[in-house]
Amino acid sequence: MDMRLNPSILAADFANLERDLARISSADFAHVDIMDNHFVPNLTFGVGMVERLQQVSPIPLDVHLMIEDPDRWAPGYAEVGAASVTFHAEAATDAVALARRLRDIGARAGLALKPGTPVEPYLDLLHEFDQVLVMTVEPGFGGQSFIEETLPKIERLRTAIRHSRHDVWLQVDGGINEETILTAAEAGADTFVAGSSVFGAEHPSDQIAALRAAAASHRH
Ligand code: DX5
Ligand code: ZN
Repeated sequence: MDMRLNPSILAADFANLERDLARISSADFAHVDIMDNHFVPNLTFGVGMVERLQQVSPIPLDVHLMIEDPDRWAPGYAEVGAASVTFHAEAATDAVALARRLRDIGARAGLALKPGTPVEPYLDLLHEFDQVLVMTVEPGFGGQSFIEETLPKIERLRTAIRHSRHDVWLQVDGGINEETILTAAEAGADTFVAGSSVFGAEHPSDQIAALRAAAASHRH
């Protein structure tokens, strides 16, 4: 099974984003957290920022929308060239219709679930998505601790994806470091978002390699 490592630029230096994107060029995607101060209490970037980051980034962008009304706003991120656009199940009015629209525009469509959001209503709809993001912290802030109670949901999803025979990536986001990446990989995750662990390191590229190695050491 392939794995992907996506550093989150929420932990980068906002005054030096082009430089920090260059520092993570050995990663698979740059994870971009969009927060609207409503769906989550924090506020970050918008579509204009993503459009510009897209132009200077050496790797594709993995956009994570923590916003209200993604039905209205998510397609704009696909239109400016984001490789993947992930929206929260809790915020979408019609998740399947929105995912289809994102795919039509040419982006990978992602469905995100907060730690307390059950996955069961979506298990028969997995083929409508290219990735499912299991939040392993409450969305809104970097630097929080991995919530172990999310592991059964990751395991359930891995089983359902295997049975579906669709190539749906299983992403985890929040509190990922060299230890928790093992736990998440064992539970079945194959795509790992890491913010503070990558950008808090002296050499982000070394940390990317260390995280990859840690995840790979426990693949089965
Ligand atoms: C949290 C964001 C995460 C965040 C992860 O709401 O969705 O992507 O950047 O940061 P760390 O890796 O520091 O937990
Ligand atoms: Zn995120």
